[in-house]
Amino acid sequence: MARPKIALIGAGNIGGTLAHLAAVKELGDVVLFDIADGLPQGKALDIAESGPSEGFDAAMSGTSDYADIAGADVCIVTAGVARKPGMSRDDLLGINLKVMKSVGEGIAAHAPDAFVICITNPLDAMVWALREFSGLPHNKVCGMAGVLDSARFAHFLSEEFNVSMRDVTAFVLGGHGDTMVPSVRYSTVAGIPLPDLVEMGWTTQDKLDAIVQRTRDGGAEIVGLLKTGSAYYAPATSAIEMAEAYLKDQKRVLPCAAYCSGELGVDGLYVGVPTVIGAGGVERIVDIKLNEDEQAGFDNSVNAVKGLIEACKGIDSSLA
Ligand code: APR
Repeated sequence: MARPKIALIGAGNIGGTLAHLAAVKELGDVVLFDIADGLPQGKALDIAESGPSEGFDAAMSGTSDYADIAGADVCIVTAGVARKPGMSRDDLLGINLKVMKSVGEGIAAHAPDAFVICITNPLDAMVWALREFSGLPHNKVCGMAGVLDSARFAHFLSEEFNVSMRDVTAFVLGGHGDTMVPSVRYSTVAGIPLPDLVEMGWTTQDKLDAIVQRTRDGGAEIVGLLKTGSAYYAPATSAIEMAEAYLKDQKRVLPCAAYCSGELGVDGLYVGVPTVIGAGGVERIVDIKLNEDEQAGFDNSVNAVKGLIEACKGIDSSLA
């Protein structure tokens, strides 16, 4: 059987890391696409030349021609502009909306059967716009944010408890912005919910509150340190986890920005919710029950996403 084809739209920091991870994990042949002259070709060749040492079988190529993504099984979209210190994800909206239009049209023309994972920020609005511009089915277009936000939360918790990250299940809902909702009740260490761990004296409520806030600010913390761009190792790893779930029909339960049609009280927009990802794309949304506080936080986050979508419609009348 031929290897799957993975198209990476955007060959910057995240795109290059995605390509390297896809190669090392032998998920398929990789096509890097970018408008920057030479960048996708250079990164593809560099990664291909790591093949003999690493020992992977995967073809790497770079292009600025959408025709070369033809028939891709997976498209991961990072095209656009990343944050600099002092910028919020929302500040990227105007520029990246235009990019989503060209990317959506390129995917629709050349890879209409692909499973599409959007990473470009502001995520929840960009994945919505990308779906609108591409016209692909909603279950085949989703956004990567929840896996990353949950990984950040899990990392901080594992440090606080001094336990392996493998035994921490953390869970973040809502939009990928300041209003995201790290769920304390549904996050566990080896199945023990965080509120129980507070009662057991493993941590204090104050420390837990600080970890929740650090999770919300996780992207900005890295932007502040790097100064020239935003995070890329963990974002790329998170998206690869989603792509692998699709390609291998793993039926993974992963939080991602998915199109809701009534689930969790959300209708007609993309927001971070728990999903099942398998060969059917986003096969299911796990319609969990939230308590009053969680629902209030989630609703606040949904309203922030709605505001961004309205702003998109204001910029591009074809979306209205
Ligand atoms: N088509 C294709 N590629 C484009 C386009 C376009 N219309 N416009 C810009 N690009 C490319 C740039 O040439 C650049 O190589 O997108 C790439 C973006 O790479 P980086 O600037 O390194 O950004 P990165 O860190 O990879 O983040 C990409 O993901 O997490 C989000 O906020 C982040 O929106 C940003 C995106």
